[in-house]
Amino acid sequence: MQYNYCGRSGVQLPKLSLGLWHNFGSVDDFGTATQMLVRAFDAGIVHFDLANNYGPEPGSAEENFGRILRTELQGHRDEMFVSSKAGHDMWAGVYGTGSSRKNLIASCDQSLRRTGLDYFDIFYSHRYDGVTPVEETMEALIQLVRQGKALYVGISKYPPEQQALAYKILQEAHVPCLLSQYRCSLFDRKAQKANFQLAADAGSGIICFSPLAQGLLTGKYNNGIPADSRAAKQSGFLQTSQVTAERVAAARSLQKIAEERGQTLAQMALAWVLSDPRVTSVIIGTSSVAQLDDNLHTLNHLTFSSDELQRMDDIVANPAISF
Ligand SMILES: NC(=O)c1ccc[n+]([C@@H]2O[C@H](COP(=O)([O-])OP(=O)(O)OC[C@H]3O[C@@H](n4cnc5c(N)ncnc54)[C@H](OP(=O)(O)O)[C@@H]3O)[C@@H](O)[C@H]2O)c1
Repeated sequence: MQYNYCGRSGVQLPKLSLGLWHNFGSVDDFGTATQMLVRAFDAGIVHFDLANNYGPEPGSAEENFGRILRTELQGHRDEMFVSSKAGHDMWAGVYGTGSSRKNLIASCDQSLRRTGLDYFDIFYSHRYDGVTPVEETMEALIQLVRQGKALYVGISKYPPEQQALAYKILQEAHVPCLLSQYRCSLFDRKAQKANFQLAADAGSGIICFSPLAQGLLTGKYNNGIPADSRAAKQSGFLQTSQVTAERVAAARSLQKIAEERGQTLAQMALAWVLSDPRVTSVIIGTSSVAQLDDNLHTLNHLTFSSDELQRMDDIVANPAISF
């Protein structure tokens, strides 16, 4: 594994991190989930990304993570970096969602109970909710650090204005923002343009989610929708309507470049996100150990020629591809 320092901090993260949004819930095969987590850890993927609502059922990914940690990975807690988040819909009533202090503090306590952890390495505000003052949300994160429930804090998907304010409040409290989490892939460059430089200037690391556009950037949809794919699953967030002819055509063209490079499309797509020097790590999601192994080979070829980059830019230039 290769590691990067997180912004201006002493924390290193693996270039590939593992996310538990899909494939680790109570509806999923627990044996496969266990194998993926253990294989990832053995390969040096020591950062695991969770959130209160990951499942389904919401919360079950945290429960399964805790179960695997207590059995297969017992004694290794200090070798890993574990995150959780709060902000999206989680429990019934007005306090079970949003970015209020009430939601974040209660949610972190629930997540600690579900995972069985004493503390999270990083706890995020999962989103800016459009209403709660950024000051209130950041004060909740600072409180979690002061209480010892989180070592570091982060923000996810914050629009630029609220992102800049969050950094300022956290810096003034001497609890700097360790990581800023944004969606980024060959099909989605919005955060790269709008948010990355703000994060880099503030000394925050950047960690990217959905680097494979939920599987669209793997070639798996080139000949229709496979029955075991995320788009076909009822619990998957990728809708069949998002598997459009334009995106599939772009994936096919990109795959040709990947083949010339001696890579799979998934490997090339991950390498592209990592080629931005501001990016600390990409969070991958996998549904099998074979996919995990495929993605690990990304690290063997991370650089691009200017010709390759230009050809890739040309392929994704069509706004209909933007995801
Ligand atoms: N902060 C936030 O709001 C936020 C939002 C979303 C995600 N995240 C984090 O980011 C993580 C990753 O997101 P993501 O799951 O959307 O990432 P992704 O890497 O874009 O998509 C993962 C999916 O791609 C397919 N895949 C992966 N490797 C493959 C390979 N080598 N060959 C073929 N198919 C492959 C699998 O789909 P199949 O299931 O079809 O096999 C897998 O489930 C999440 O788990 C979560 O931790 C955070």
